[in-house]
Amino acid sequence: MSRKMYDKFDLDKIDLSKEPSQEEPERQYYFMAKCRKWVREFERKNGHRPCFFTQTFGCQMNARDSEKLEGILSIIGFAKADSEEAADLVLYNTCTVREHANLKVYGRLGYLKTIKKKNPHMLIALCGCMMQEETVVEKIKKSYRFVDLVFGTHNLYKFAELLYNRISSGKITIDIWQDTDKIVEELPADRKYFFKSGVNIMFGCNNFCSYCIVPYVRGRERSREPEQIISEIRRLVESGVSEIMLLGQNVNSYGKTLKNPITFAELLLEVEKIEGLKRIRFMTSHPKDLSDELIQVMKSSKKICHQLHLPMQSGSSRILKEMNRKYTKESYLALVHKIREAIPDISLTTDIIVGFPGETEEDFAETLDVVRKVRFDSAFTFLYSKRTGTPAATMDNQVPEQIVKERFDRLLKEVQEIASEQIQRFEGQTLEVLAEEKNEQLDGYLTGRLSHGIVVHFAGGEDLIGKIIPVKLTQARGFYYYGIQPIED
Ligand code: SAH
Ligand code: SF4
Ligand code: F3S
Repeated sequence: MSRKMYDKFDLDKIDLSKEPSQEEPERQYYFMAKCRKWVREFERKNGHRPCFFTQTFGCQMNARDSEKLEGILSIIGFAKADSEEAADLVLYNTCTVREHANLKVYGRLGYLKTIKKKNPHMLIALCGCMMQEETVVEKIKKSYRFVDLVFGTHNLYKFAELLYNRISSGKITIDIWQDTDKIVEELPADRKYFFKSGVNIMFGCNNFCSYCIVPYVRGRERSREPEQIISEIRRLVESGVSEIMLLGQNVNSYGKTLKNPITFAELLLEVEKIEGLKRIRFMTSHPKDLSDELIQVMKSSKKICHQLHLPMQSGSSRILKEMNRKYTKESYLALVHKIREAIPDISLTTDIIVGFPGETEEDFAETLDVVRKVRFDSAFTFLYSKRTGTPAATMDNQVPEQIVKERFDRLLKEVQEIASEQIQRFEGQTLEVLAEEKNEQLDGYLTGRLSHGIVVHFAGGEDLIGKIIPVKLTQARGFYYYGIQPIED
C-alpha cells in the first residue's frame, strides 16, 4: 500500500486556530488536520488507532473513488481493519446500476446493525451512486437510523470535512448535491496495487441511454485538464506504477467540454510519452464516438494494451434505437471490422443487456448473431433491470422475467463457448505478462495479465510481482492460461 501526500500540505503545520480556507483542496487538508487531532485523542484514550473498513460496489470508477476515500483516512491516521467487526468506521461506497446492487447494500446494512449493537461507538458511512437517489436517502433516514454519515458522488472530495462534522457534532450528517461542475485536484489516494492504478480523465455522462441511471447519479460530463492528468500519471510512475487505466463513462468523448478542447486520441499521445510508463488501458469506449484517429493511435502505440471494451448492449438496431445508443447493428459490426483490420490480435470484450422492454425473440436473435459474428474474448451479460427515473422504466412492454432468464441462459452459453475457443489463439506463444499477485489456490504460483487482459497463472516468486516478464502460454483453460517462464540460456 503506498500513499501519495502532496508536499505543500503538511497537516501538522496547518494552523487550526484559524478559520478554514474557502479554497479547495486547502479546505479539505484543514479538515484532515482536524480529524487527525481527533484520531490522536482516540488513540490516547483507547490505546490503539481507530480502524476503517471499506467495501466498494460497482465499477472501476467507484473503485478509484474508494482509493481516494482511503487515502484521506490514511492521512488522517486511521489504520485498516480486515472486517466490519474489527472496524471503528465502516464505509460502503455504493452502486445503483442494477436493482441487485442496491439489494446487496441493504443486506449488508442489516448485518451492520447487529454489529453496531455490540460496538455502539462504530461509525457507519454510506456514499456513492445509490446515495444520489432521493428515495434511498429517505429509506435510510427512516429505516436505517443507525447510519452516521451519508454523502454522494459530487461531494466525495469533502469526505474529511463531513467526517469531522459528524465526529464533532455527534449527529447524523447527510450531504447530497444534485450536480456539480467542480473537479477538485490534489487530494490523496491510497492504491490497492503499487504497480497499477486507475486515473480519472472525466466524470459524469451525457449520453442518457434510456435504461441507465448513471447520468442521473454521476451528473453531467466534465473532463479533467490534460496537464492535471499527465502530472498525476507522472507522479504515479515515479512511485512505481507501470500500468494505468484511464477511466470515464465514455472516454471517446473526452476533452469536448474543455476550454481548449483536445481529443481522447491526442491525450493518449501525450500519455504515451511519459517515460517509465509501460502499459495504458482505458474504459469505457462508447461505439458511437470511437474515431479513426483513435484506432490509428492504438495501432502505432507501443504502450496501449491490445484490449478494447466496446459495450454493444444489443444486436438489434431497433432495440439500440430504443436504448438511445446512436449506432446500429451494421455500424457496430463495421467498427469491429475496422478495429480488427488495424490491430488483428486485439482482444474485444463487451456488455450485453438481455430483456430490454419490447425485446422480441427476433431482436434477441440479432444479439446472438452479433455475438457469433464478432466472437468476443469475453462478454458481461446482464438481465435488464428497471431503474426508476429512466425512460425505459416507464415503457409499457416490459418482457416477462421467465422469458428474459431463458434468453439470458442461451446467451451466456454462447458467449462462454466462444470465449473459451477465442482464448486458445495464443496457446504456445511467449507473451509479456504483468505479474499482479500471489495465486491463492496454487502454492508457488503467481497470477498476471497479458496486454490483452487475459489472466495467466504461472510458477514464480513473489519478488516478480509488479514486473512485466515473458511467459510461455502452455495451456488455455476456458478463461485463463497456465504458463511457464521460459528458461534463459
Ligand atoms: N458507460 C458504460 C457503461 C457503464 S454501466 C457504457 O456506456 O458502456 C456498465 C454496464 O451496465 C452497461 O454497459 C450496461 O450493459 C449495464 N447496465 C446499465 N444499466 C443497466 C440496467 N438498467 N439493466 C441492466 N444492465 C444495465
Ligand atoms: Fe450509462 Fe450510456 Fe452513460 Fe454508459 S454511456 S454510463 S450506459 S448512459
Ligand atoms: Fe454503479 Fe455508479 Fe459505477 S451506479 S456502475 S458505481 S458509476
